[in-house]
Amino acid sequence: MSQPFPLSPAVAEDSGGNVSRETPAAGVAVAAPDLRIGSTTTTPYEDYVQASVLTHLQHPLSDDPGEMVFLVTTQVMELWFTAIVHEWCTAAEALRSDDLTVAMDALRRSTYELEALNAAWKPLARLTPEQFNAYRSALGEGSGFQSAMYRRLEFLLGEKSAAMLVPHRGAPREYAELEQALQEPSLWDEVLRLLARRGYAVPEAILRRDLALRYESDPDVEAVWAEIYAGPQESELVRLGEALTDVGELVWRWRNDHLVATRRAMGSKMGTGGSAGVAWLEKRARKNVFPELWTARSHV
Ligand code: HEM
Repeated sequence: MSQPFPLSPAVAEDSGGNVSRETPAAGVAVAAPDLRIGSTTTTPYEDYVQASVLTHLQHPLSDDPGEMVFLVTTQVMELWFTAIVHEWCTAAEALRSDDLTVAMDALRRSTYELEALNAAWKPLARLTPEQFNAYRSALGEGSGFQSAMYRRLEFLLGEKSAAMLVPHRGAPREYAELEQALQEPSLWDEVLRLLARRGYAVPEAILRRDLALRYESDPDVEAVWAEIYAGPQESELVRLGEALTDVGELVWRWRNDHLVATRRAMGSKMGTGGSAGVAWLEKRARKNVFPELWTARSHV
């Protein structure tokens, strides 16, 4: 069979058309990938990953060579937000059907994804104001604040706000997804419902709360967690509490890494999204995710 393009001399093709590469040391032929796969249509890899779409979505707004990594980092983070939202939806659904095994698996995966998300700050963590200024004005009023997927992530943590839907009014799909997420029980709501089904004294008012409102920390819920944490350490509820605490800590780290990167890149200037910038982000970063899981520790 003729080769569509030249192969290096070390690469051979057998009678079945399989391409192999000689391993010089052992002298044993090791099969190399089949070059014919996808040669007449698109590759199965492309069909699955849509890499050609993904790698052509980068359209910098300035001529500055440093803008590309700002854009790619932002897109990478959007993809991690998407994966994490998927895990938390899986976990919430599993909790609803009392399947702690599936819920714990999803939560554990999400902590690895959060670690990868946080590691993605590296290329942007040390921008000087001059480097950021080189493309900042090209961003106009664009801001991560307008990220619909990040908002879904916050809603799943119980940080609900109908006002946060306003920037998405012009995008019907994102608006519909956010509106649904606003009305649905958050991951934390599902945790509290599970605790109530297991006989813990979660107040009725919390179980019947208006789901579209921000969850506010509650002393009775804190007492429930203190009781759980004072019990057997190997219990599945302590392990659930610890997995959720890991999630909370990693989200808090993302917020703080974002805050520090912003402080380094633009000091106390106003944000492109119209906020006070660092001062506003400081306020956001002070919030504890799943607050009772942290405060209960003082009472164990
Ligand atoms: C060094 C680069 C960055 C700077 C200087 C920066 C700055 C800011 C500022 C000032 C805000 C407040 C809202 C505003 O007025 O614009 C904000 C919000 C936000 N940014 Fe960034 N940002 C940076 C990188 C990123 C990246 C890479 C992402 C990834 C998607 C991101 C996601 C967000 C999100 C989700 C919010 C809203 C946070 C919330 O609602 O609590 N930012 N950013």
